[in-house]
Amino acid sequence: MTGATGGKTDPEAGGIGIPGFFAGLPRQFPGSEADTLAALGQLPSLPPSACVAEFACGTGAATLALAARLEAPVLALDPSADFLARLRQRAAARGLGDRIEPVVGDLANPPVPDGFLDLLWCEGAAYILGFDAALVRWRACLRPTGFAVVSECSWLVPNPGLQARTFWYAAYPAMRTVLENIERAEGAGYELLATHILPPDRWAAWADSLEGRLDALAARGETLDPAFVRALAREIALYRNTGEEFSAVYYVLARK
Ligand SMILES: C[S@@+](CC[C@H](N)C(=O)[O-])C[C@H]1O[C@@H](n2cnc3c(N)ncnc32)[C@H](O)[C@@H]1O
Repeated sequence: MTGATGGKTDPEAGGIGIPGFFAGLPRQFPGSEADTLAALGQLPSLPPSACVAEFACGTGAATLALAARLEAPVLALDPSADFLARLRQRAAARGLGDRIEPVVGDLANPPVPDGFLDLLWCEGAAYILGFDAALVRWRACLRPTGFAVVSECSWLVPNPGLQARTFWYAAYPAMRTVLENIERAEGAGYELLATHILPPDRWAAWADSLEGRLDALAARGETLDPAFVRALAREIALYRNTGEEFSAVYYVLARK
């Protein structure tokens, strides 16, 4: 899948490339600051001087929300130096430059000592390791009293329609139901505190964002890999026409 969970087309084919396409968006996954804060609001208070990290932060939509609300420094990890450079600019523009620590790195091997974090945040990227594998790996990063908030595309109904199945069985065959993910999270050593389901209108807004970027690049005469553009058009149609069969779900977890 090209948009919410990665890319199967050549990342550098076409002029601007897929990373350049996404770097120009305010976020790289459906959602909103209100959703990040709604999930954050499900946590108990964090200790003063809490250690907070966001893994796979992209250009930092959630990082900025967390740093502003928690008034704490946030380590922002992503392998893309371009995304992190954009995050730095956005943090400076919001007066949050001194609260963001951008780090180029890999969520499979995060540069965080064991037992270090009070809060680990990850939106739309645990699938890179696999939801359970990510939770098991990241648990070691948490203090015994630490929390993890991880969003993951999840089925909301037992029998989704053919359009959604056709897309997701190809894009992310490992996608599971909310109950299955809760079971996996508990098996990975966490207690579930809450879930927050991204409302359907966020997917429509994400479709608008993708389409707006395509239109803006076309107006500037920028070229993109035609296979990427075709795949994106299919995604945009799905995100507009699918109701409540799937969404990104924030799993708000306490380390057990
Ligand atoms: C779907 S985007 C989500 C970005 C951001 N969390 C958001 O919600 O806007 C996936 C992100 O994972 C990052 N990523 C890909 N592989 C990674 C890895 N091995 N370690 C850390 N981040 C990775 C990408 O650079 C991208 O920023």
